[in-house]
Amino acid sequence: MPSLQELIQLHQEEINNLNAADAAELENYRIRFLGAKGIVKNLSAEMKNVPADQRKEAGQILNAFKNLAEEKYEVFKNLLQKEADKGPSIDMSLPGTPLPIGTRHPLRMVENQIVSIFEKIGFSVATGPEIEDDWHNFTSLNMPEHHPARDMQDTFYVSQNPDWVLRTHTSSVQARILETQPLPVRVICPGRVYRNETISARAHCFFHQCEGLYVDKNVSFADLKQTLYYFVTEMFGPDTKVRFRPSYFPFTEPSAEMDISCTVCGGSGCNLCKHSGWVEILGCGMVHPNMLRNFGIDPEVYTGFAFGMGVERITQVKFQVNDLRLYSQNDVRFLRQFQGL
Ligand code: DAH
Repeated sequence: MPSLQELIQLHQEEINNLNAADAAELENYRIRFLGAKGIVKNLSAEMKNVPADQRKEAGQILNAFKNLAEEKYEVFKNLLQKEADKGPSIDMSLPGTPLPIGTRHPLRMVENQIVSIFEKIGFSVATGPEIEDDWHNFTSLNMPEHHPARDMQDTFYVSQNPDWVLRTHTSSVQARILETQPLPVRVICPGRVYRNETISARAHCFFHQCEGLYVDKNVSFADLKQTLYYFVTEMFGPDTKVRFRPSYFPFTEPSAEMDISCTVCGGSGCNLCKHSGWVEILGCGMVHPNMLRNFGIDPEVYTGFAFGMGVERITQVKFQVNDLRLYSQNDVRFLRQFQGL
């Protein structure tokens, strides 16, 4: 059995190594060493077993041990108290580290707006593939091979298959809808399109369109005009004027292009409208009977209208963006200007 001196030495080491990090650890220490059933009390009780001739010396050692245990307790108590007096070590009043969040792309914002305007009047969203075959991009849209209208759009061909193109317009989705959906149909088709153009402020090799198609019994040009008036009012405000100019598209007859009064100068003339007071925003018309026939639809029973607009164009008119390249450069100084809109 270890002598009292040996026991004391063991515990002394424990005390010397004490590192009470918080009040709970210090309290454990107090109970273990200084408590009513603690080590100091137990060792004192051992004194009676110490031979009488060693008792004096043992008493001194025990006393020194007791003092050490109590001192250590006081030292840590004061230390912890000082820490507590300093208050929390984090300054809660400091501003946090900012976490910058992205902004919605202006083209996506405008596309979302176009789509929701048409959804309010019963159109639903339809999409199609960006790699299209000749039938859906051209032939079924009343543009057979060698048709001169194919030259209106410079096409990217996919080298693996001469029948495949990067779609030149979202009108290809019209074809896919008429091919698969039961009538009546009323769809709005947003998507990316591609043309073999040299990139400049006014042209790009990819851009975005939104196509509309409504086919039912008794659909008339008046329905088309009314639908587009509604769109312009929602998109550009009730004071915007609208005009239709006769035009040509192979998949519509009659065809028109629609202009709105310039939203920047209100019609008096500026750079955006090239001093004409009007900006063209879309092409439209009544679905060509040949196109309906291509999908087994009898043009004597069903009629329809279609329109197609460039999302970049609408965005340019809305936000006066003067260079198409800005949309795809991902310069945050440009993109941040649309934050919160
Ligand atoms: N597809 C035409 C283009 O890319 C736009 C267009 C014109 C779409 C008239 C239509 C339409 O649906 O009826 O230039």
